[in-house]
Amino acid sequence: MIPNSLDGVAEAMGGPGKGILAADESSGTIRKRFDTINVESSETNRRDYRELLFRTTEALNNHISGVILFDETLRQRAADGTALVDLIAGSGAIPGIKIDKGAHPLAGSPSEKVTEGLDGLRDRLSEYRQLGARFTKWRAVMDIGRGGDRSVPSRACAVANAHALARMAALSQEQDLVPIVEPEVLMDGDHDIDRCFEATEFTLRETYASLSEQGVVLEASVLKPNMVLSGKLCPVQAPAEEVAEKTVACLRRSVPAAVPSIVFLSGGQSDLEATENLNAMNAAFDTPWRLSFSYGRALQAAPLKAWGGNPANGPAVRAAFAHRARMNALATLGQWSGELEAQAA
Ligand code: 13P
Repeated sequence: MIPNSLDGVAEAMGGPGKGILAADESSGTIRKRFDTINVESSETNRRDYRELLFRTTEALNNHISGVILFDETLRQRAADGTALVDLIAGSGAIPGIKIDKGAHPLAGSPSEKVTEGLDGLRDRLSEYRQLGARFTKWRAVMDIGRGGDRSVPSRACAVANAHALARMAALSQEQDLVPIVEPEVLMDGDHDIDRCFEATEFTLRETYASLSEQGVVLEASVLKPNMVLSGKLCPVQAPAEEVAEKTVACLRRSVPAAVPSIVFLSGGQSDLEATENLNAMNAAFDTPWRLSFSYGRALQAAPLKAWGGNPANGPAVRAAFAHRARMNALATLGQWSGELEAQAA
């Protein structure tokens, strides 16, 4: 059952043995995803695809702690008239809602972005709580400068995004919702893993300083960070053991132990990388927080491809989603292996 208290919800979101399905793609992002399988992004198609995921009971009953929705989906009904949010809650997973209004150019440093959406937020949150959401998500994006440019991420960008994250987190808690605080340092770029460590530490320290200033109750919040990774274009790609060691070291320096759950984003890692890196952390380290997942692409790439817009592919969609959910659930326990992956395939 879904816990009543904010602390209970925040803890349950991180497992044990469970993690979050991020199905909160905005209208623009879901269109891009559907373009890759040549499917029109109509309201019905979006509903049909997401309904298939939410009806994958093997995943939702056993491996998924919560589902992040977009505004449209929180209000949508399944083909048989059941509210999608009731489908999710009925399976024991916690429904949540993306509340930011996207990342926009930061005045004075237009190559960087600040996330908008604070105006009128209290009223939106109150409605979302009534519609059945129990947690919120707000994503800030921080880039790392190319070619060794150390001016990005700038302090201006880190402070502006941290302030917005803290404001939304305090408002969410006021409205009986657990905030997922997501300051994402992007993996695009040619930087090495140590530069990612430095930028992530800088961003997280600013974030928690702001959360403290705004009186956010850490026990009733969840962090959704990037892993500490080599940039996509870096010629040297750090192996999983190094990613695990550096990610845990970076989090230990910057995230208070009062935070119950840390759920990583996948951020452009392949399905297998996202699973392997999470597993390496949980296999090798004891941490004060639960370390789990809140994956969008790394959970949905396979089921989306299996679907292809054809309702007859429902069983293949559910099989693909249940498999990735189970592999990542094992990774939260440090019990995943490449052999298990191969056996299931
Ligand atoms: P990815 O796992 O695809 O990065 O998405 C997670 C998410 O919700 C980003 O805000």
